[in-house]
Amino acid sequence: MARSCPRIPPDDWCVVHPSAVSLAPEWLIAPEDPNALAPSVWPASARRDRDGVLAIGDMSATELVRSYGTPLLVLDEEEVRARARAFHDSFAAAAAAHETTARVYYAGKAFLSTAVARWVTEEGLNVDVCTRGELEVALAAGVEPANIGFHGNNKSVDEIERAVQVGIGSIIVDSAIEIERIAAVAVRTGAVQRVLVRVNNGVHAETHDFLATAHEDQKFGMTFADAEVAVARIRELPGLEFVGLHCHIGSQIFGVAGFRESASRVLELHEKLLAGGDIPLLNLGGGFGIAYTSVDDPTPIEQLAAEIVTAVAEGCAARGIALPSLAFEPGRAIVGTAGVTLYEVGTTKEVRLDSGASRLYVSVDGGMSDNARTALYGAQFSARLASRIGSGGPALARVVGKHCESGDIVVDHEYLPADIAPGDLLAVPATGAYCASLSSNYNHVPRPPVVAVSGGHSRVIVRGESIDDLLARDAGISANEGAR
Ligand SMILES: Cc1ncc(COP(=O)(O)O)c(C=O)c1O
Repeated sequence: MARSCPRIPPDDWCVVHPSAVSLAPEWLIAPEDPNALAPSVWPASARRDRDGVLAIGDMSATELVRSYGTPLLVLDEEEVRARARAFHDSFAAAAAAHETTARVYYAGKAFLSTAVARWVTEEGLNVDVCTRGELEVALAAGVEPANIGFHGNNKSVDEIERAVQVGIGSIIVDSAIEIERIAAVAVRTGAVQRVLVRVNNGVHAETHDFLATAHEDQKFGMTFADAEVAVARIRELPGLEFVGLHCHIGSQIFGVAGFRESASRVLELHEKLLAGGDIPLLNLGGGFGIAYTSVDDPTPIEQLAAEIVTAVAEGCAARGIALPSLAFEPGRAIVGTAGVTLYEVGTTKEVRLDSGASRLYVSVDGGMSDNARTALYGAQFSARLASRIGSGGPALARVVGKHCESGDIVVDHEYLPADIAPGDLLAVPATGAYCASLSSNYNHVPRPPVVAVSGGHSRVIVRGESIDDLLARDAGISANEGAR
């Protein structure tokens, strides 16, 4: 049974009530040492220095916070680069083993800044965007337009015009309406635009399991029947070149089974469409999982790449068709583990229930505005004291933010040193993906800076917001009156 000990205990505090029910979920194992860093969850460079202070990229958490304040998203450059290289090399090797090629697109939605776009492209990746904003960041970073893919279910004419005009590598068509829009723009600008068609193949994968349905009730992609009509239309329109099918089955996928099923289903349509012409490419999307807590155990990327490419190659061989060139779109698996968010603890509070069970609430100076994943998806994270080694037994804690929302939870369940106190720095690992990119100004909280660390150096790659930034948009404040 989990025990929790507050810092200033009432007399009977550490005695767990005999009938107390633990509030810890079954999967959460009480650690022997609540200061230990589980290697799978942290960047490879994470360690504690002689004083027990957490360091990332050879930069101590206390020093970083002195320079940049809290909350702070720290991104380990070498971790991003190493993961980008691993994806590039693993898929290249797996494809070469079957005499084809593979392109890896970094899914910018996970977290995009010009620095990150440069790191990943320097390591051989392409970039996948889904809005004009993401496209402009990639272009500002100097990414070759031919190495950018553009997907999304509602690209505006303005977005399509910009993409075609800069010579974007491919546009992933999501509806019949879009075909006419892209063709009109291409004809007007004299371009021949390469397009893929996104299909909804009924495979939906989440973490350990995947679900295969006949039809999925969701907004992305087309049914096979609609995709067939779409491809026929694309093939007859000037200005468009059909290069392949695209699918994406979900996120935080650990195994290969979902990808295998997805590929097998899409190959059925791919084979049928070969009757109308060559199809050089097949894009199987992203969704590769990472460890958020020490119990998560994602398959190593070399193994995943080898097994997925082999599954596609076997599927093609069984159908007697040529293996196309392959494409993948990892986002989270490139940047997720590289990010560590540092917060300052503001208050702690023990909450005891009638059952006798208790939980330590640890409030930090950020919350759902910088990490919406817990509130949005019920995501699990872990946490560690960053400014020192804590003492006292592991206390079952919940890390919460400062927002006016009871669902404002950063880390739902974690054991932290029982002496955690106001002024301590708390680090939440695996926050590199879908945290900054989903951040908001809820409760008029400024968004924190993103700082890259590498080899004992740090630099701001995304500036933090100030109160002035927030007020600047309020047209009722005198300096802004008349502005739109
Ligand atoms: C089409 C597409 N590609 C790639 C991704 C990236 O997924 P992940 O970050 O889980 O790898 C997503 C995410 O939802 C997506 O929708």
